[in-house]
Amino acid sequence: MKDLTPDRATLDPIEIASIDEIRALQLDRLKWSVRHAYDNVPMYKQRFDAAGVHPDDLQQLSDLAKFPFTYKTDLRDNYPFGLFAVPREQIRRIHASSGTTGKPTVVGYTENDLNNWANLVARSMRASGTRSGDIVHVAYGYGLFTGGLGAHYGAERLGATVVPISGGMTERQVTLIQDFKPTTIMVTPSYMLNILEQFHKAGLDPRDSSLEVGIFGAEPWTDSMRREVEDAFDMHAVDIYGLSEIMGPGVANECVETKDGPVIWEDHFLPEIIHPETGEVLPDGEIGELVFTTLTKEGLPMIRYRTRDLTRLLPGTARSMRRMEKITGRSDDMIILRGVNVFPTQIEEQVLATGGISPHFQIELYKSGRMDGMRVYVEASEDSTDEASKTAAARMLTKRIKDVVGVSTEIIVGAPGEVERSQGKAQRVVDNRGKG
Ligand code: DLL
Repeated sequence: MKDLTPDRATLDPIEIASIDEIRALQLDRLKWSVRHAYDNVPMYKQRFDAAGVHPDDLQQLSDLAKFPFTYKTDLRDNYPFGLFAVPREQIRRIHASSGTTGKPTVVGYTENDLNNWANLVARSMRASGTRSGDIVHVAYGYGLFTGGLGAHYGAERLGATVVPISGGMTERQVTLIQDFKPTTIMVTPSYMLNILEQFHKAGLDPRDSSLEVGIFGAEPWTDSMRREVEDAFDMHAVDIYGLSEIMGPGVANECVETKDGPVIWEDHFLPEIIHPETGEVLPDGEIGELVFTTLTKEGLPMIRYRTRDLTRLLPGTARSMRRMEKITGRSDDMIILRGVNVFPTQIEEQVLATGGISPHFQIELYKSGRMDGMRVYVEASEDSTDEASKTAAARMLTKRIKDVVGVSTEIIVGAPGEVERSQGKAQRVVDNRGKG
């Protein structure tokens, strides 16, 4: 793999400023943001008043802990535009996430918000090893999802040539990669596996492709998956994190030279880690729920937004700003199987470590009597489709999951292509427990 470490002179000075400088900027911006929310969004005024706190109470960063949390349900309850802090005419763009139940979550951006977003995605791409003049293949979905357009404007801002292909039509993705020769691809890691499969189907060696870096996010993925993709394509795989409520992609991004967890762009977002049940703020280094407060957002300021993502804060390495540990799960995705907590990423690791099967998998939860059961659907790799190999792979995977994760599962090894393929964010768990 090529050394893609960016030249320090090309970084934004704040990325490598002193911690004191970063904290001072955060405090200034935090005071502005909390006041902006209080003065312009009725929900924040009511909440702060009810909690007996006022923007004037914010004298240091730790004072933020006195303020109430904001939840995803608050966006739903104020659907569609009730949390906007500027007149609607000043909102230049809307995005929304479909959500699995009920109303979508709607977010809005002013001109300045869009400008900051493009700058932060450009910064994220530069951290990933992409340079001005590169060709960037954007296979995140375009539309209300923040992935496609978020990546797109960041790539343009960086000075790259963008190929806005969006998700789907995997054959064409491969043709265009062969023809246009992009050096960067931006896509969900699960969809990257489809693209990999299509390379093989087309008789192409992915290691010969022009790709040098993949910027993968929008769903949890593991270091095992990183190795799998880096090896298959002879490219760097870096992690991009974000969520629409806070901005979209580019809230945090890994540095290609260290690949040790996404750096949080702390000049725009203030992270906290809290105990998911008590709400107590935990010290850096402890695992808990990630909470963000936006520092510059005009359209939709978010004060102490509960992401439900589980991680911990780590000190800066390649940049001064803090990192978050690669996210291995959301509290929503946690499966509790006969008392054991299981995240789909733990299953992913074992699937990738087992020979004779491909990396595609899906988990089904079912009821058997009064007990919950878990089935993992995987598929044989092309060269291991005979019954003996399939049985051996199933046995091996069952044992690995039992030994490492601590739960008993039933493994179904299907033929190549049988597991549902992701077109964007993969649906890792199908919960049939409520069904007869
Ligand atoms: O997924 C924004 C995004 C687009 C990020 C493209 C990166 C690349 P939402 O649809 O609002 O926004 O979903 C946000 O996805 O709270 C996490 O649970 C999960 N997520 C996003 N990035 C990562 C990541 C976009 N790198 C939710 N690792 C977040 C793990 C991630 N989970």
